[in-house]
Amino acid sequence: MKLISGTSNLPLAQKIADQLGSPLLDVEITKFANGEKRVWVKDKIAGENVSLVQSFNNPVDENIVETLLIIDALERAGARHINLIIPWMGYSLQDKVFREGEPIAARVIADLLSNSHAKRAVLLDLHNSSIPGFFSIPTQHLLALNPFAEYIRENFNQNETIIVSPDFGGLKRARTFAELLGLELENIDKHRDLTTGKVTPKGVTGDVEGKICIIYDDVINTGGTVVEVAKFLKEKGAKEVHFLVTHGLFAGDGLMKMEDPSIDSVVITNSIHHLNLPPKIRVIDVSKLLADSVKTWV
Ligand code: R5P
Repeated sequence: MKLISGTSNLPLAQKIADQLGSPLLDVEITKFANGEKRVWVKDKIAGENVSLVQSFNNPVDENIVETLLIIDALERAGARHINLIIPWMGYSLQDKVFREGEPIAARVIADLLSNSHAKRAVLLDLHNSSIPGFFSIPTQHLLALNPFAEYIRENFNQNETIIVSPDFGGLKRARTFAELLGLELENIDKHRDLTTGKVTPKGVTGDVEGKICIIYDDVINTGGTVVEVAKFLKEKGAKEVHFLVTHGLFAGDGLMKMEDPSIDSVVITNSIHHLNLPPKIRVIDVSKLLADSVKTWV
């Protein structure tokens, strides 16, 4: 099996390649003067199974088009099967019609990928576990539960630690995590204004006084949830507030928001590549998880 990377997360693709002991294919990705992407797969891949690593982070649309162009180039060059490894699936937050007149963008992206020459896709910690069903090709939905659980075991005294879901939408995910660790679970009643995006925590199910609260979530987008939930829990008497979140998008001033003193630490994965993160933000490597998932695709 050969591995190829788009431009969105070359360091993660390189780590996956190292895990698999298979060097990344040589691909040149440039732009024409008019702004269109130009893809050139230089290695010969006829008859090979090829896995393409690409996250759909900012610039989201460019990264999606780049993915489709690479798939087409691989198909034309005679690849046997083309597999996708999409650590962060952009548009996955738009998984339903929130207001009449809106699209289901996650479905649109799933259709685009399913109708390409890709044979299957690996996805990581999706916002909504129904999204694999939007695809008409087989998908594998991986969870970063174990790497995060290992982090908790190594870094926290579990006697005073509880898991908190930041909203009802994330309750199932947080419950699975709490059960894995044998920790108490609480849930926040979070409201979001659909027009302004402003987040307001309205309540929490249990007593967090004196507790180390670990908020387990899928994505930090604008950072509004992190900062408002941290302030809220500290006001309720939490001793420490830490966030374990798979995908760190940090849209807009999201990184600056992480400086808020009510946030003790933020742990993300390398599903999205960042340079120069502040010391408060730690990164867990998920390359092994992703590599293991494609090892059978020889
Ligand atoms: C919400 O349902 C998600 O699980 C995240 O909590 C949310 O998308 C984070 O967004 P933001 O960082 O913009 O508050």
